[in-house]
Amino acid sequence: MKRYEDKAWKDSMRVRVDFNNMMSEFVGENGIKLEEIESMRSEISRAVKGMEQKRSNMRWRELPFNQTEIVTELKATAQHIRNNFEYFVVLGIGGSALGPIAVHQALTHARYNELPDEKRNGPKFYVEDNVDPEKISALFDVIDIKKTMFNIITKSGNTSETVSQMLFVFDILKKTVGDDWTKHVIATTDASKGSLRLIADKYSIKTFIVPDGVGGRFSELCPVGLLAASVCGIDIDELLAGAAYMDEICTETADIMQNPAYISAVLEVIAMRKGKNISVFMPYCDALKYMADWYAQLWAESLGKRYDNEGNEVFVGQTPVKALGVTDQHSQIQLYTEGPNDKVVTFLEVENYRKTVEIPSLEMFDELHDVNFLSGHTFNELIGHECFSTEYALVQSGRMSKNIVFNEVNAFTVGQFLCLLELQTAFAGELLNINAFDQPGVEEGKKATYALLERPGYDEKRKELEMMPKKKDCYIA
Ligand code: PA5
Repeated sequence: MKRYEDKAWKDSMRVRVDFNNMMSEFVGENGIKLEEIESMRSEISRAVKGMEQKRSNMRWRELPFNQTEIVTELKATAQHIRNNFEYFVVLGIGGSALGPIAVHQALTHARYNELPDEKRNGPKFYVEDNVDPEKISALFDVIDIKKTMFNIITKSGNTSETVSQMLFVFDILKKTVGDDWTKHVIATTDASKGSLRLIADKYSIKTFIVPDGVGGRFSELCPVGLLAASVCGIDIDELLAGAAYMDEICTETADIMQNPAYISAVLEVIAMRKGKNISVFMPYCDALKYMADWYAQLWAESLGKRYDNEGNEVFVGQTPVKALGVTDQHSQIQLYTEGPNDKVVTFLEVENYRKTVEIPSLEMFDELHDVNFLSGHTFNELIGHECFSTEYALVQSGRMSKNIVFNEVNAFTVGQFLCLLELQTAFAGELLNINAFDQPGVEEGKKATYALLERPGYDEKRKELEMMPKKKDCYIA
């Protein structure tokens, strides 16, 4: 029996949202009153109905339940890669990169790539999510291309950044391994559309599909994220089981206070309406550091919208800010406690770290009381107390925060967390009456890039860009 089949274990691993410090009872007049939640009753019911009606279009919600065959194939492919390659490189951007990065960081050794081969649970892992010429060329100083598998991930199959990386890699591969180049490539893309699909079909490249209805930022639990995770030794069955567990928890609609995703969305929306336009996401755990990047895209791209569903200009959204506890206590907390009261802080709190490390007592410092008070404690206590102290400092200054609490970081809790945040985002979209699943602002930038690079069909856009007023020297110092 897998541990996630044991109800007691599962319940002990439940990821919880502690929103005490969002409430006025704790943070005073700047907080949220129960009556304010109550007064949203009809908006909440409309949003609940919206989630139910749109469930069949939200195909990302089915991923924990409908991938049995795909998971078998992913695991077999992952095993082949582990047996035959020393490097695994993802080429992708946005939703095609941030999930794989975040889950890898959460669920593998904290210094994975630096481990000696015999201790690492898979090939070295790199995600190339930029087109900085220095960075992309540097990759080839640290990998041996003959021992590398590239996973090109692009749902549209046409994203300029990923396609450029692909051309660069194909060129080097062909020069190095000749006709075998296709054996070094796996494409993760749409089933029928886009240039990557055409290329993969033409050259019989192994592919995995990004299903319809699964947008980039909601795609971590499909092959976009699962292949990389499995290659690096992560238990993807447990990851999906965690997501399924949270999905089940979030079917609670009779008492919204017991639905962690929906109540979080309600509180964030109330906070936005109170002018809290910034959402600080602060994991107290290095393993969860890149979850803040993943969340930032999910929250920003989904909710940052000009128009509501009726076409009214609304300009909604909340700016996500990434922070890391305790590191950023020494750079940002001063602003959060005393600067403008325009933020909600979400802490990611871990109750049990996977290691316990004691702070030793050194006899030679017996007289140094400002040093030796730490001795005998653990780093675990230190980081836990610092998280609590930051929470306390925010409460004292009347600032709202909430905690997402992990018993420990494992595939089951990470799966829950991903599902929780995706549902929170979708529900917030319903409450705000916007489309949380498109990204017209991103598309606009993509079109401008195509025009500048003279892609056929973008002449009008190029003309538009040429009409932009020229920059003036007097404004350049
Ligand atoms: O969430 C999204 O849809 C975007 O961030 C995309 O993931 C990103 O633009 C990359 O697109 P694609 O996967 O089509 O290359």
